[in-house]
Amino acid sequence: DRPHRAAIASAHPLASAAGMQVLEDGGNAFDAAVAVSAALTVVAPYGAGLGGGGFWLLQRAEDRFETFVDGREKAPLAATADMYLDASGQPITKASRVGPLAAGVPGLPAGLVHIAETYGALPLSRSLEPAIRLARDGFPVWPRLRAGLVARRAILARSPAASETFLVDGTAPGLGDVIVQPRLAETLERIAAQGHDGFYRGAVAGALVEGARAAGGIWTLEDLETYQVVEREPIVATWRGTRALMAPPPSAGGVAMANIFQILSAYDLQRHSRVEQVHLVVEAMRRAFRDRALYLGDPDFVDVPVARLTHPFYAAGQRASIRLDRATPSDSLPGFKVVSGGGQTTHFSILDTAGNRVAGTQSLNSWFGCGYMEPTTGVMLNNEMDDFSVKPGVGNLYQLVGAQANAIAPGKRMLSSMSPTILESERGVAILGTPGGSRIISMVTLATLEWMNGADAETIVSLPRFHHQYLPDKLFHEPGAFGEEEAAALRALGHQLSEVSRLYGNMQVVTWDFKTGKVEAVSDFRGQGDAKVRVY
Ligand code: DON
Repeated sequence: DRPHRAAIASAHPLASAAGMQVLEDGGNAFDAAVAVSAALTVVAPYGAGLGGGGFWLLQRAEDRFETFVDGREKAPLAATADMYLDASGQPITKASRVGPLAAGVPGLPAGLVHIAETYGALPLSRSLEPAIRLARDGFPVWPRLRAGLVARRAILARSPAASETFLVDGTAPGLGDVIVQPRLAETLERIAAQGHDGFYRGAVAGALVEGARAAGGIWTLEDLETYQVVEREPIVATWRGTRALMAPPPSAGGVAMANIFQILSAYDLQRHSRVEQVHLVVEAMRRAFRDRALYLGDPDFVDVPVARLTHPFYAAGQRASIRLDRATPSDSLPGFKVVSGGGQTTHFSILDTAGNRVAGTQSLNSWFGCGYMEPTTGVMLNNEMDDFSVKPGVGNLYQLVGAQANAIAPGKRMLSSMSPTILESERGVAILGTPGGSRIISMVTLATLEWMNGADAETIVSLPRFHHQYLPDKLFHEPGAFGEEEAAALRALGHQLSEVSRLYGNMQVVTWDFKTGKVEAVSDFRGQGDAKVRVY
């Protein structure tokens, strides 16, 4: 009962290769996760970085031990609930998105060190080696990176170090131009040599605090010195013979997905028409996202009623208001009134030949985070503070609303949608996740539902995507997701359809079929990925 080959799916072939190299050197999936995570900070700097955070869902084969490593950013100790509001109490939106004031205290370096030291078979320095080499020697600009550079050019141009690293005469470099990051290589080397303290104390910490403060931030040395990763118990839900291992708070993913599955469990979806299937899934999403807005936040700060929200009786109550012939207007559910209404992240999935599994999602929040690079360390800072609810009822970058549970407080983790997920049934295993802000949850949900129907990796990645997040009360969908008749039928049920301008997400899936033994790694055709399956 071991896979005959290892597989890694990530957003970039060089990151997948970094993981494969570590596996070939005798590392396990956890070492490979460190290598892939670190390599992604170099080759996908728009979506991941040492100045950001991440979640890693780990499952060890030998003893079935499973854990969720929470390397989410935290609000600085000087943060206050109203720090992004003006004197009249109105949100200053850019303040939580641009510049170091938008940056949470990074957790990604702590996560890498923790995983290597606790679960790895190789020293951290070995697992970081490919990333260090990529940062020092450089790598060619690829389409998704170029798209990010074009999108954020103006903001990067304000940060001298970021423009020196990523722009040529203030504009985005061409495809194939080589980007080198010598300072980032040095920072990675410090972490390789000194572990946690190489980033969170000493020269790197000092430079980051000084740089962030000089550019308008509020970080202190204490913020970095006190940062710790937290291991949390994953959320587990079993439905239709599939056991889903999912991300717990401060991710909203696991609670929302477990709730959606519970709501849907009373329907025999396959017996319904496609329109009814979409309708029911959307109604389940609407209700799960309402609860996200009301109840979810950092479990170290607020009492998140996980057991209640994922309980079958609770779902039965939610189901009572679902009608097959009509959409439920979001504002008819007790909850919120909206006051008002992208970005990039990156996911990878790993299976090694011992059967160990990792699903990892990491982020700077939107493209290149807050746009600021600290010059001496080459570290881009995140803008994850925008994932807090800046003001009750005011939508963030992803139009998500929130309340007290996700209000800003010193040292608190902002609620996330990142949903690294591992599925297992008699049929086999699927390891999956994607970037996409609030739509992460609906993408992983749809892929999971289809995997439960027997679909393979390629199919679940390629499904047309649709999304509902309670507020705004819209059924978002990719171009082409519904035929004309389906769209008309959904409108007739009362759904307000909203076609998004382009295909979204960049899902990375590894599957292992127990019966055929087949192991597959599939990267989203929407991204510029490379799924590597190699026999060794
Ligand atoms: O943690 C979150 O939910 C967000 N910061 C993720 C951002 C994201 O996926 C952007 N990708 N398109």
